[in-house]
Amino acid sequence: MFQTVSLAWIFAILCSLGESSSTTFVVDTSGRGLVKNDILEWSARTNLARIPSFLYIRAPASNRRMYPLMKLELQGARNRIIVQSGLARPSPPSIMLCALGEEVIAPGKPFKMHILVRSEDFQIFINGYLKYTLKLAHDAPLIDKVTKLAVYNSDGAVRILNDTTYSELLSAPNCGFNINSIKPPPFCGSTGPVSERIVGGVESRPGSHPWQVSIRTKPVFTIGQPHICGGTLISNCLVVTAGHCFYSLKEYPLSKMIVRVGDYYNRDGTPHSRDPTVENSEDIEIESVIRHERYDLFPTPTNDIAVIKLRTCVTFDKFKRPACLPTGRNQFRPGTDCGISGWGALNSTDYPTEYPACLQGAIIEIKTDRQCKTAFQEKYLLKKMMCANTDTADTCQGDSGGPMTCHNEDNRHFLWGVTSWGEGCGDAKKPGVYTRVTTYLRWLFMAINLSPQPQRFQKDVKNGSKPKYCHNYVPADF
Ligand SMILES: *[C@@H]1O[C@H](CO)[C@@H](O)[C@H](O)[C@H]1NC(C)=O
Ligand SMILES: *[C@@H]1O[C@H](CO)[C@@H](O)[C@H](O)[C@H]1NC(C)=O
Ligand SMILES: *[C@@H]1O[C@H](CO)[C@@H](O)[C@H](O)[C@H]1NC(C)=O
Repeated sequence: MFQTVSLAWIFAILCSLGESSSTTFVVDTSGRGLVKNDILEWSARTNLARIPSFLYIRAPASNRRMYPLMKLELQGARNRIIVQSGLARPSPPSIMLCALGEEVIAPGKPFKMHILVRSEDFQIFINGYLKYTLKLAHDAPLIDKVTKLAVYNSDGAVRILNDTTYSELLSAPNCGFNINSIKPPPFCGSTGPVSERIVGGVESRPGSHPWQVSIRTKPVFTIGQPHICGGTLISNCLVVTAGHCFYSLKEYPLSKMIVRVGDYYNRDGTPHSRDPTVENSEDIEIESVIRHERYDLFPTPTNDIAVIKLRTCVTFDKFKRPACLPTGRNQFRPGTDCGISGWGALNSTDYPTEYPACLQGAIIEIKTDRQCKTAFQEKYLLKKMMCANTDTADTCQGDSGGPMTCHNEDNRHFLWGVTSWGEGCGDAKKPGVYTRVTTYLRWLFMAINLSPQPQRFQKDVKNGSKPKYCHNYVPADF
């Protein structure tokens, strides 16, 4: 490779070995290969010396050689990556050099690289921004034939993200805890029988749903009821809600809306609106919203999920805390009792102006897919939806976007469903339908951490610089 080996080179190599950067990390993927939509993560620091780091994605070829499906060379000292797909010989080498600038790749600087696996190309994100889309070479093996991922000369490993890791990466530290010691106050005005609340719920205990938010119109833009939807804090700056809560940005542009956190008594301008014994509410501007790019309202809300970035982040207290993201699709089984909450209608004939003042809560049971299919036939989409209720308790209009949380033995609450749709409210034969959060963990990870996304509307979650394009680079002596 080198014509002459200079002392400077030897010195550089020795130095870099001394910095323990010569480590190799291998992931054996034989039997699994790579699957479309896998995300690989390589998190490390760039070497201090001129020694590059390498990431190889390999598959065996017919001639028994190991083909690199992708070879990526990271040259910290030169602030660039060089990427290649396929064998590159004898056909003209398809090598791309991406000059990224020292603000992205610099010696000794930490970086996070994500590679989104697609069937024809790999999207390479560095520190959250798409930097390059590598088209797989025509002579490259198929992604499901990949047997090995390897990182050389690096202090950080590569891994394939899965539901467990998405959940870990998305969940806030100390998420999912609430308090249950404060009794509902007398001023909620509950005159009717207990069965009249959420539908069939009760006034919740203040602090028992600290992740619940109210998405509402700002007072100057409000005609009638300001509360539009519920939502769930998953970190101090992010709220998960339903896609259909943003069905009409013409009517409700983000600038006319606000997210109220830490709320209990959901009416403005009364002595209880800010009663510190039951709430610590705060109105926060919306920075941006990402709705699922395949969200559809008809025939029933599908891919009904969105994530809101708050303009200022919340300081957690006993009335404001995040829920955890679930760790996998089998964490909670049908038959499990889970919690719903919201300021929505108490029955299906309620007008929005009659929505309850105090946050309502109820316990419902997750139904089996078979029960949900029986209730809704083809309108119920396995994998994307779940349904749940009890004979009396259900969600209703105005509860949309809010949480269905389930908890484990140590009383940690996980966002298992997002209130989505139903037929009527409180009909025992028609359970409420919820977006199945575990199906969208990867989507949430991408929406929150990787940019740009297809078909974003309104502003991007991140305000990143435009990606710098790679130069087509065919070095003569490579
Ligand atoms: C998910 O990935 C982690 C780390 O790479 C691994 O330890 C774990 O076994 C994986 N979990 C599943 C369910 O595949
Ligand atoms: C629905 O709830 C409202 C009070 O919020 C009540 O006035 C009305 O009678 C209820 N309707 C039915 C059908 O129960
Ligand atoms: C967003 O980007 C624009 C243009 O690059 C810049 O002028 C603006 O200051 C940025 N805003 C924030 C909040 O970083």
